[in-house]
Amino acid sequence: MFILKEAIACPLCHQPLAKTPQQCDTCHNYFRNELQKTPSSLIDLTPEALHKQIQGNAIQTKPLRTELFRSPIISFFYERVLPPIWATGLRNLGGIDVEFAQCTEFFGENPGIVADISCGTGIMSRRLALLGKCKQVIAVDYSETMLSQLQQQMKLDGISPSKIVIIRGDVEALPLVSDSIDAIYAGAAMHCWPNAEEGIRNIYRVLRSGGKLFATTFLKPFPSIVFRFFSVDELRHILLTAGFNSDCVQVEARGLYGIIRCIK
Ligand SMILES: C[S@@+](CC[C@H](N)C(=O)[O-])C[C@H]1O[C@@H](n2cnc3c(N)ncnc32)[C@H](O)[C@@H]1O
Repeated sequence: MFILKEAIACPLCHQPLAKTPQQCDTCHNYFRNELQKTPSSLIDLTPEALHKQIQGNAIQTKPLRTELFRSPIISFFYERVLPPIWATGLRNLGGIDVEFAQCTEFFGENPGIVADISCGTGIMSRRLALLGKCKQVIAVDYSETMLSQLQQQMKLDGISPSKIVIIRGDVEALPLVSDSIDAIYAGAAMHCWPNAEEGIRNIYRVLRSGGKLFATTFLKPFPSIVFRFFSVDELRHILLTAGFNSDCVQVEARGLYGIIRCIK
């Protein structure tokens, strides 16, 4: 499995999990054993899962804006209720189909290895897999219940498990090898991350040179009570600080929706 060997990493030292010997002691057999389960089942490559394996209990919880997506009720409704509401214009002035068109246009004819980071129920991963142009789709999310919805929907859509590698992972400890991914989609996600700066730094790390990031999020004046909303200038600042060159960063406001296109 070329893709797994090349792209999936220990979230702590970023070395490919399929490579031996491992470079860090903390990689532990746990992550390598998880790797064996893919693609037939989802794998958990969060540092929390390793901690639970060793200590028998989970470590600290994330902020509410991340944790609420782990609720089975939210995951169930996310898939079934939100898409028609978005289509009325609330998301990207036209819904997920508009976003899919923008994203695939930006990624081009041969997107290569595409990672959907914070994939949720895989609304975009499934479209990308069905499009059939990607070398591999890797779907990563922190919420095990969102990922379980993704698995159920894949069965309903007739998508074989080999088409989407599903990983429970944290954008702030991304279990992907540096400079390995051709394109990343992070839809409606940054406002849910505990630390958007750290998330984008990780995304920059794993993109190969020339790799593309298409990301969307909501903008101010939405108030940052639970979620963290951004101004266009803040988004640009986060992207430039992560390492993207200013000539290769575009941030567009469509109503209160921010669309990011970057090339590393
Ligand atoms: C609003 S949903 C977006 C889902 C999907 N990308 C879409 O376009 O509809 C935000 C997602 O971010 C995920 N998320 C939040 N914090 C995360 C983190 N630290 N690492 C990875 N995913 C995270 C949540 O679990 C949730 O599925």
